Amino acid sequence: EDCRLCIYGEVASTNRTLRELADEGAKEGTVVLAKCQTEGRGRRGREFYSPADTGLYMSILLRPQMEISDLMMVTAASAAATAEAVEAITGTETAIKWVNDVYAKGKKVSGILTEASFSLENGSIDFLIVGIGVNVLEPEGGFPESIQEKAGAVCQRDQCPEGIRNVLAAEIIKRVLSYYRTLPERTFYPSYKEKMLWMGEKIFVHTADKKKPAIAVGIDDRCSLRVRYEDGTEEILRTGEISVSHP
Ligand code: BTN
Repeated sequence: EDCRLCIYGEVASTNRTLRELADEGAKEGTVVLAKCQTEGRGRRGREFYSPADTGLYMSILLRPQMEISDLMMVTAASAAATAEAVEAITGTETAIKWVNDVYAKGKKVSGILTEASFSLENGSIDFLIVGIGVNVLEPEGGFPESIQEKAGAVCQRDQCPEGIRNVLAAEIIKRVLSYYRTLPERTFYPSYKEKMLWMGEKIFVHTADKKKPAIAVGIDDRCSLRVRYEDGTEEILRTGEISVSHP
């Protein structure tokens, strides 16, 4: 397997470190793994809490030849791969919150931030960075107050096998690359769909200024979410954010 692993202590963000390596010509399959991040980033400009010792922070470099509209597939496949890896290594049952958050016992245990870089010449995809963060253990003293209600960990402190972060990282990399290589066949799709939270249930679709109540009807074969609003109209969401509890 062509995978080069670069291990760091503290970095600002593994996505940023890997972007620098990619700009210098790093190959597909290059992985950056760090002990902690000082500026871990999440989707929508949010911060990703990244302390040492309790979390796993890594980024995987891909150089896909695909339509830009298919990039979402890589993110969805990575979420399925991460959820499965967590289950395989820890035995903790996982679910996926559309688009790509991994949940366990009703709490978010992993987030994925995919960033693309486009070629200036023809606008095609130059490279893709899949950044994956996993809360392996709950930090001593708990998660910060701002995320306390939502955040969870994949392992209990007293039941956590030694060296789990390395084993989990290896399993995630293996599964992400395997789904990536079989992306045209959508091998990740049954697992992604099967793990999807809240299908058929009442949710809220987040828009710029409000949260609109809707029913999550289902996921289509491009991993888009079909929702039905209270007035009976339907919409197919390519990306976005949903929740189940009103603020
Ligand atoms: C989210 O939940 O909104 C996505 C979180 C993604 C976090 C990971 S940790 C490794 C990589 N480096 C970052 O700065 N972010 C991603």
